[in-house]
Amino acid sequence: MTATTKDSIINERNFRPQRLEEFIGQKDLKRTLRLMLDASKTRGALLEHVVFFGAPGLGKTTLAGIIASEQGTRLHELSAPSIARPGDLAQVLIALQKGDVFFLDEIHALKRESSELLYSAMEDFKVSIKTETGDRPLTLAVYPFTLVGATTDFGILPDAMRSRFGHSFYLKLYTLDELTGVILRAADTLGYMMDDEALAGIAVRSRGTPRTALRLFRRCVDAATNANTDLIDASLVENTMPLLGLDKLGLEDADRKYLATLAITYKGGPVGPRSIAANAGIDLATVEQVIEPVLLTSGLIARTPRGRRITRAGYEHVKTFLAAPPAINWRKVENTDVETGDELNR
Ligand SMILES: Nc1ncnc2c1ncn2[C@@H]1O[C@H](COP(=O)(O)OP(=O)(O)O)[C@@H](O)[C@H]1O
Ligand SMILES: [Mg+2]
Repeated sequence: MTATTKDSIINERNFRPQRLEEFIGQKDLKRTLRLMLDASKTRGALLEHVVFFGAPGLGKTTLAGIIASEQGTRLHELSAPSIARPGDLAQVLIALQKGDVFFLDEIHALKRESSELLYSAMEDFKVSIKTETGDRPLTLAVYPFTLVGATTDFGILPDAMRSRFGHSFYLKLYTLDELTGVILRAADTLGYMMDDEALAGIAVRSRGTPRTALRLFRRCVDAATNANTDLIDASLVENTMPLLGLDKLGLEDADRKYLATLAITYKGGPVGPRSIAANAGIDLATVEQVIEPVLLTSGLIARTPRGRRITRAGYEHVKTFLAAPPAINWRKVENTDVETGDELNR
């Protein structure tokens, strides 16, 4: 394989599977989506509107593309924050052709007026727009389409919006096996060989997220390119990861800052995420959506009724990067798991 073919297919878009069966993991989601796709096909009807929610990089955009290609229709992408006025949204809806998939990303950020317009398009395939003269609004028909919404924040979707979807799909973090599958698929596509240890070395640092797995893989491809080899082995991976600021467990600076704050300032906890965020100088959304899910799944912190606490594994990890790790009173820290009470958890 020549360097140019490798270059031309190395960007993210080209790792996107086109068929539902090529999409790795999310077994329950795939089963339900397959059921809906097959049934609508048999009926000769369109797939009902659906919404995907889950952290960034878990495959929401990819699934929207898969729905379009499974149905043999076109995909239109729009991100809600880019819609300033309802008129912007109306324009896109009017331009849709019969059966198109309209992918609306970050749907939680849609403004109220635009949401109203979207509801009537979803339900009656009609949009009403104000005219220049300020007379009665003009009502136009739009072709039947399938709305695919995506959001990282399902909790803040208004009920009116939620109830208009035929199904809401929740995307989970991926297991190490599934991440290995994602990396292997990309390696095969690009013509690289990898050993099991190298695959595991990337998977374990991927935060349960295919996008991260692929990004780390691409940096290993960079290293392989520079070393003029088609083999990505464990030593190449282990030499590349520190250059990206990733330690053995795949933690980044912000994760280590969180752990250090929990260990030093709060003596291991328990303490609410809000306090940790404020003290570590990290915003609360990043703490709750990016850092804590990883630390919880890797067993470095635990959730208690009174907030987060460090685990023994977490403390062992702190010792690897703090020169003078604080002493922890484990009796006190671990004794907090069963108590109920105040609202520190939120
Ligand atoms: N289940 C999966 N199987 C294979 N590749 C995946 C899977 N989920 C995500 N990816 C890949 O990860 C990257 C990020 O996915 P994307 O759909 O953009 O995530 P999101 O829209 O949720 O942020 C893409 O390159 C995509 O191909
Ligand atoms: Mg996306």
